[in-house]
Amino acid sequence: MNLCVLGAQWGDEGKGKIVDLLTPHFNVVARYQGGHNAGHTVYVGGRKFVLHLIPSGILHPGVICLIGNGVVVDPRALFAEVDELAGMGFDVRGRLFVSDKAHLILPYHRELDILSEARRGDRKIGTTSRGIGPAYEDKIGRRGVRVGDLRDTSADGPLVGAIRENVDARNRLVGNSEMKWQDVLADLRTAWVRLEPFVTDVSLYLSRAMAAGQRVMFEGAQGTLLDIDHGTYPYVTSSNAIAGGACTGLGIGPKTIGAVLGVTKAYTTRVGEGPLPTELLGEMGERLRESGQEYGASTGRPRRCGWYDAVAVRYAVRINGLDALALTKLDVLDGIEALDICTGYRCGTDVLTEMPGDTAQLALCEPIYETLPGWREPTRGITRYMDLNANARAYVRRLEEVTGVPAAIVSTGSERDHTIIRDDSVAAAWFR
Ligand code: IMP
Repeated sequence: MNLCVLGAQWGDEGKGKIVDLLTPHFNVVARYQGGHNAGHTVYVGGRKFVLHLIPSGILHPGVICLIGNGVVVDPRALFAEVDELAGMGFDVRGRLFVSDKAHLILPYHRELDILSEARRGDRKIGTTSRGIGPAYEDKIGRRGVRVGDLRDTSADGPLVGAIRENVDARNRLVGNSEMKWQDVLADLRTAWVRLEPFVTDVSLYLSRAMAAGQRVMFEGAQGTLLDIDHGTYPYVTSSNAIAGGACTGLGIGPKTIGAVLGVTKAYTTRVGEGPLPTELLGEMGERLRESGQEYGASTGRPRRCGWYDAVAVRYAVRINGLDALALTKLDVLDGIEALDICTGYRCGTDVLTEMPGDTAQLALCEPIYETLPGWREPTRGITRYMDLNANARAYVRRLEEVTGVPAAIVSTGSERDHTIIRDDSVAAAWFR
């Protein structure tokens, strides 16, 4: 059965670890959206790997990793990651392929991202400054440059025309310096020499792989509440991070997605601007940040931390059709006396049990909490559910009740083997 793994909160849920853990049971891992704004951290044997663009399955030799058309690719970021992996002993040649329909992030996109944020002032999104939004803007505006366009760099070809127009537009917007389209083109010619062996028709590759009985994992980046359509707009990323994004971002039919696994932390974090109803601004927020090492894997920015927001996760269950949750970082809650779970929002005189579609309204919502006792006994590194203390089990059980889906995987630490796989759950089939 093919499996889609995605973020069920505001990103940084620990998808990297879960994808890495499941990878030995799959033949192909395919990333379907986002770009190098993502930071998927995987710890293996005490070594830390942070993957941004390359699927988290790459650390398993023999597994094919695909970057779909829905991803925006900065060639420099891609090569930096390939080189870093090579330095750590992982050769990606013949195992990593990029869609010829994926759009490129070019130097002017990064500049326009920073400029756009500066112009928004107080209304800034808090982007990663990687050029993600402007690259998707060009894609939707039908002036983007795709990986496959680099095949033809002739003077009268479509690539040169697009680069000239885009750089002209950039020069009109960024008044203080002149960018030369010839320089951008020269860099792209150089990039193509290295990129070409990686380029393929990802949709066709997947179709053939699945027809041959291979198992595929579809890997999302960011999270449901950062989705361009269903997230807390405009404080979102510019792509579809939800399960539906796997279809458009890879060129597969919806029926090929066998099951959907949503990853959530045992609490909530967000990096960047926008509403976060359960945010803890005082000591407890600081405590979660320090014990959870909640600093952005891509940008190093401190993450905003808060209690588990079951309203937001229930919404993710609905939007993605989640079959199960992977609950990460349970061990970060060790030693906290009492744990709050947000089960509804108070908004003026209204009580909401569903996520409001209006972001301004969400910003006014106060969480309604129920409180469970915490635990003193460490959960770190526990691998069997029955070995968790009673209060930790009660906490997990309550999260399952309020979200309506089973916690099939519970992560109790950063290493691969710091994980509980519930044999009695839907997840057992994914590990066969
Ligand atoms: P962008 O994707 O760089 O345009 O940023 C848009 C919003 O998404 C900002 O709030 C970022 O902090 C957030 N964001 C983007 N990528 C990630 C991620 O991988 N994890 C968490 N937040 C992210």
